[in-house]
Amino acid sequence: MESPSGLVGPDTPRGVVMTEEDIADTVAAFAQAAADAKRLGFDTLELHGAHGYLIDQFFWSGTNKRTDAFGGATIRERSRFAADIVRAVRTAVGSDFPLILRVSQWKQQGYKARLATSPQEMTEWLAPLVEAGVDILHCSQRRFWEPEFPDIDGEHGLNFAGWAKKLTGAATISVGSVGLSSDFFAAFGGEGSGAAALDNLYTRMERDEFDLIAVGRVLLSDAHCAEKVQSGQTDSLRGFNAADLAVLA
Ligand SMILES: Cc1cc2nc3c(=O)[nH]c(=O)nc-3n(C[C@H](O)[C@H](O)[C@H](O)COP(=O)(O)O)c2cc1C
Repeated sequence: MESPSGLVGPDTPRGVVMTEEDIADTVAAFAQAAADAKRLGFDTLELHGAHGYLIDQFFWSGTNKRTDAFGGATIRERSRFAADIVRAVRTAVGSDFPLILRVSQWKQQGYKARLATSPQEMTEWLAPLVEAGVDILHCSQRRFWEPEFPDIDGEHGLNFAGWAKKLTGAATISVGSVGLSSDFFAAFGGEGSGAAALDNLYTRMERDEFDLIAVGRVLLSDAHCAEKVQSGQTDSLRGFNAADLAVLA
């Protein structure tokens, strides 16, 4: 397994350090896969740059200790790998093909990890990626209702997708425990999650904080959740039951 610095988490060795040739090959492979996806008829493409996977390992100072052009003390420097991929993918699919990039502060290897601790750092992280060709930033949070920088705009302040949209001008998707009372790590432990009110979501949508909302577990357990939300029957949303993972609804 390849990684920026042979680390899967801070002080956790795993995999081999990528050479510059490995990096070039990987960027080219992303571009080839994107071109193939378009040729096969897909309408859009989402790159996974979140949750502690390869692209995110380049973003994170805990896993990127490189001293070449793909590492550095700042998030802008550590975003170079992602920017190269986005540019190559954009060239491969052309200008009129929607391109989404999934990003997160948190990692599977560090729930409290943060790539950007201020709006300025968030701009340095995300703006170059939008400039490189991303249309939509898919901003993953464990709980969408949590404000990203409460010190600045308070406990009801913008969430991650809200700040990303404000700072970059790109469209954004918010995600994380929509309609549910606990985050998805509980699901890995075999736990369910009760249904939760959607008031906070509606408030944020009314103020145009972000453009789209993604759902995971609610849809896994309740195939009718979109219709229920549309027709105002939110009281009958089922929540998430871990046992439903074994069944196709
Ligand atoms: C059973 C299950 C498996 C998941 N597997 C992955 C995964 O392999 N990689 C990943 O990045 N996210 C994974 N996720 C997280 C989802 O992509 C999504 O971000 C998360 O479920 C948030 O949406 P929700 O809170 O509405 O469920 C998984 C989630 C669930 C419930």
